This record gives sequence, C-alpha cells and structure tokens, in this order.
Amino acid sequence: MSRKVRIGIIGCGAIAERLHVPEYAASPDAELVAFCDALKGRAQAVASTFAPDAQIFTDYKDLLKKADVEGVSVCLPNHLHGPVTIAALKVGCNVLVEKPMATSVAEARRMLDAADKAGKLLAVNQSQRLFPAHVKAKEVMDSGIMGKVLHVTAMFGHAGPEYWSPSGKWFFNKKEARFGAMADLGVHKADLVRYLTGKEVGSIGAFYERLEKKRASVEDNFVAALKFTDGTVGTLAASWTVKGAEANYTILYCTNGTLSVCAYPGRPLVANLVNPECEIDFDVPPPPDNDNGGWGLDIGGRFCRAIKGEEAPYCSGFEGMKSLEVILAAERSALTGRTIKINH
Ligand SMILES: NC(=O)c1ccc[n+]([C@@H]2O[C@H](COP(=O)([O-])OP(=O)(O)OC[C@H]3O[C@@H](n4cnc5c(N)ncnc54)[C@H](O)[C@@H]3O)[C@@H](O)[C@H]2O)c1
Repeated sequence: MSRKVRIGIIGCGAIAERLHVPEYAASPDAELVAFCDALKGRAQAVASTFAPDAQIFTDYKDLLKKADVEGVSVCLPNHLHGPVTIAALKVGCNVLVEKPMATSVAEARRMLDAADKAGKLLAVNQSQRLFPAHVKAKEVMDSGIMGKVLHVTAMFGHAGPEYWSPSGKWFFNKKEARFGAMADLGVHKADLVRYLTGKEVGSIGAFYERLEKKRASVEDNFVAALKFTDGTVGTLAASWTVKGAEANYTILYCTNGTLSVCAYPGRPLVANLVNPECEIDFDVPPPPDNDNGGWGLDIGGRFCRAIKGEEAPYCSGFEGMKSLEVILAAERSALTGRTIKINH
C-alpha cells in the first residue's frame, strides 16, 4: 500500500472546497489532517465533510507549527500566496500554491529560492494543464502531426468571481488580488499556450479595462498580442464580463492545419489537417466521477506522489513563475502603452 502524505489546507474557500479537498480525500496517497481558515466555521465545515478528525486552525502559523504536515495547499487570496508559501517552505513543508503563484516576479523568485534552500517541492496549481482536452491536445501537439505552430489564440472568460465565490470580495480589491481578470483567468491561458506550444513569449503588447465591475479596483477585461521568441504570434484574452456560457478555448494554427481546443460545443478537440486533408474529432473522455466531488484531475494525488519523488509535479514553481511573467509584462505594456520584451 502506498504511503499517505499528511496534508494541511490553508484557506478553506471555494477552490479548496470544490477542488483541493475532495481530490485529496479521494486519493490513496493523501491524508487530510489539518484545515486552516481565518473563519473557523469555514474550516470546520469543510473538515466535517471530508476529514472529521482533522485539526482546525485559524492561523496558518499554528497549523505549520503544530499539525506535523508534510505538504500544504495554499488556497488563499493572491497577496498571501508568497508569504504563506515561504513560511511553509521555511519549516520544511512542501507546497502546492494556487495561481497566480505570486504578485510579482521578485516574489515568485523568493518562493523558488525558499524551496531550493529547504530542499522541498514548490508546485503551482495551473490546473488547466490537467483538463482532459488539454492533456489530449498536448499529446497531439507533441506527436508532430500538426507541424509547427504559427499562430495561437486563447481566451478565458466568465461572468466574474462573484458567481464563483460569492463571499470572495477580495477578488475585486487590488491590494488583495493584485490583478483582476488578467491574472485570475489570463494566467491560466498564458500557462496553457506555453505548455501546449513549448514556446516562450518574447514580447507582448496589451490593453486592460474595467468595463462593468465599477466598484472594483482591478480590471475586468484584458487582451494581449504575443510574439514568441521564434517569431510565432498569438493573442491572449480574459474577461469577467462574458454572459451566458463561459468562453474557455484555445486554437493552434499550425503548418499542417488547425487544432481547436474546446472551441466547438460538444467537440472538445478537433484537428483540421491539410496533408492528408481530413478532420479528426478526438475522443476525449470526461474526467472520472468521484463520489466526493472535485474535478477528477487528481491534483492532490499528483502533489503527494511528487512529494514522494514518484512523479514530476504537473506545474513546477519555475513554470508557474514563467507564466506569471507573461501577465506581468502584459500589465506593464497596458500601463506604459509600449511593447514589453521578456528576457529568458
Ligand atoms: N486553479 C483554479 O482553477 C482556481 C479557481 C478558482 C480560484 N483559484 C485561486 O484560488 C485562490 C483562492 O480562491 P477562492 O476562490 O477559493 O477564494 P475564496 O475567497 O472563496 O477563499 C479564500 C479563503 O481564504 C480565507 N482567508 C483569507 N485570509 C486568510 C488568512 N489570513 N488566513 C487563513 N484564511 C484566510 C477566507 O476566509 C476564504 O475562506 C485564489 O488565488 C484564486 O486565484 C484557482
């Protein structure tokens, strides 16, 4: 039987309750032993459903001191990702931190340095890498049948975080969130296009606006033009003002055709090839059902197995930092009206 890794959850809001906790609870590699939230009732409520014997804390420092955990999920508002991750690494705890991993590249570097110094794992939950259509798209791109990518476009939009986490007022407050749609949703696609193409963004020009969320101090819409280091071009967009069905698609225009990922309803992955001329509707099975809920991505099991050295993390701290770098360059471009170069 596999060894179970003792896990603590720091921040028991929407993403912890809907993704991290149910997926740890379903994994034979994990044991949920401690929960922390500034709101005690919230930590208690999540624990009572998934791990009634777990310890409850309202201060993450107490959890790190007293709970004897080997790994923690940091599911807090964005401005706390850096300090809490570094505090956990300093006491020898492995960390799976939510996206965006930090509020600046300097902070992300400090997180990486803390992980190196402690000899512990820092992983970032860029969860879109694990969506079944994206896993299959990666396989297709790596197979070489599409040829070379020439142009890529990616968009993620929904009606706003108030519909995802009604109590999560911090999403709209620049001091706590640091960014709006640009990093909340845009960082997912910045990461995904890097992951699927294997290319790095070399320069970026961007705009952002607050169009509808008038009481927010962050942007609700963002669009960027990308030039990758090899000359490939693309666009990246994110929005908190998309009505009706969410927009969550990526299209890769390549020398041998087009790969459309979640671009057509009911057809998660479609390749239109020119040589030989054909259309392929790839079979993408939905994630497995789990009685506990979760998204069927096994993020908890993957983190625990990475801690045990049994597999690589699906998104390392370094990878998380490279994706954040794209968003920060986009912000600088939007603020200065200039094209920003990213040094690699
Ligand atoms: N990977 C994904 O697909 C995905 C999806 C949604 C959210 N997220 C990310 O997850 C993070 C959390 O988002 P959420 O939607 O769960 O927000 P949320 O507001 O629902 O939950 C945050 C929780 O943190 C708690 N908290 C705040 N300050 C605290 C402190 N100092 N100590 C302990 N607890 C504290 C709050 O009480 C709340 O319960 C964000 O960084 C967000 O970007 C990721």
